[in-house]
Amino acid sequence: MTSKVNLKTAARCLRRLGKLRPKLAIVLGSGFQSVADAVVVEGTLPYSRIPGFPVSNVLGHRGEVIIGRIENTPVLILSGRAHYYEGHSLAEVTFPIRVLAEYGIESVLLTNAAGGIHRRFRPGDFMLFSDHISLLPDNPLRGTMQNGVSHFLDLTDAYDTGLAQQISLAAKHARARLHRGVYLAVPGPNYETPAEIRAFAKLGADAVGMSTVPEVLVARQCGLRVAGLSCITNLAAGLAPGKLSHEEVIATAVRTGEQARRMISFFAAHYV
Ligand code: HPA
Repeated sequence: MTSKVNLKTAARCLRRLGKLRPKLAIVLGSGFQSVADAVVVEGTLPYSRIPGFPVSNVLGHRGEVIIGRIENTPVLILSGRAHYYEGHSLAEVTFPIRVLAEYGIESVLLTNAAGGIHRRFRPGDFMLFSDHISLLPDNPLRGTMQNGVSHFLDLTDAYDTGLAQQISLAAKHARARLHRGVYLAVPGPNYETPAEIRAFAKLGADAVGMSTVPEVLVARQCGLRVAGLSCITNLAAGLAPGKLSHEEVIATAVRTGEQARRMISFFAAHYV
């Protein structure tokens, strides 16, 4: 569990970055790092300088907070995230989300890279979360009570329909192939077996990945509006000839980076 003092101290660090007070936060996972280039920056701060923030060693994740504007909209960007598979606890992984809520953020767009399970998904497509399935061995809400707010969280409307509509419009603008689907979270760090992917398809999953769901749970507990967006960087295990590799994931992420940047810039610019 994270202490209140730490949360307040971390939020104060972010407030010192400038006068802007964004209501929209965007967490950039693999495939979305270039979105940071669309920001007219007011201030940046490495995660290592914020008390309690976990530092990620994933290649390509910058590991910094950026506050600035996209077009006229103030935004707070978390460029990179820590993962459960890196050895962090889910309390550590989700600490930045609690800090965002303390800071005054109202909506968060969580992005990531994922393997496509649905037959129609192709590498380079995008998927907006309609819902999720968690196969994680832990839960960040375990043991947490926020100001008396129940941890028996209702998740029937976890994903905000208004944000989803705005992302759909943004995808049209960027000419991105956007699907809606169910994200299934695994702990990683290994990729799945083909048998697991066949099982996940039967469970109703459209894409699989190793992040995001813990952040969704904490964001909803804190009362934030949430959207989840995956870049489908590869077909999941057994669905394409050849082996899965982190290099393939990174290569697709680089190829689609420009489209991701256009889509999210449009989304942020029209955020209400
Ligand atoms: N499986 C799990 N996580 C992933 C994948 C995958 O195929 N691709 C990108 N992240």
